[in-house]
Amino acid sequence: MFKLPDLPYAYNALEPYLDAATMEIHHGKHHATYVVKLNEALANQPELFNKTIEELILNLNSVPEKIRSAVRNHGGGHYNHSLFWLSLSPVKSEPAGELMDLLNRDFSSLENFKGQFTKAALGVFGSGWTWLVKDQANKLMVITTANQDSPLSQDLKPLLCLDVWEHAYYLKFQNRRTDYVTAWWSVVNWLEVAKRLS
Ligand SMILES: [Fe+2]
Repeated sequence: MFKLPDLPYAYNALEPYLDAATMEIHHGKHHATYVVKLNEALANQPELFNKTIEELILNLNSVPEKIRSAVRNHGGGHYNHSLFWLSLSPVKSEPAGELMDLLNRDFSSLENFKGQFTKAALGVFGSGWTWLVKDQANKLMVITTANQDSPLSQDLKPLLCLDVWEHAYYLKFQNRRTDYVTAWWSVVNWLEVAKRLS
């Protein structure tokens, strides 16, 4: 069975940028429900419980068709949110070393990267995610995905993700997605991004 991972910090740890009430509902209700529904979908295919969530998402075509949508949506929701929580930290950090070198190489500067990422996040229509990913040729790119689709399914390695579903910000920011994205930059865990890169 898949399990809801604990957060590596308290629900109120990211205040005042991301509020405790949103974090609690987002993790304890939304993410928890993806895990429950993923387990329900796999209940009649127990051999799939032997796979990791990454393996399931990477090989959606090998999942039986009758549960493929459920695994794509709820498994994707579980995987994406698990990455999202680790991409946040109350401890301030900055990109450095190889990560900074690659951001400079592929986006000209950190500021250009942030601008491109923010523009992509604001442009997501409806529910979805914005990602910094590394492709097979080791190039960094900003992409967006709809719903709970994951870059893993496109053979891209996710380094950083931003949830732009309304459930991620509506309680505190209502329709002001720009303010949410601005606040989110203040709690990005760059050490985790660097760790994923390496
Ligand atoms: Fe979410």
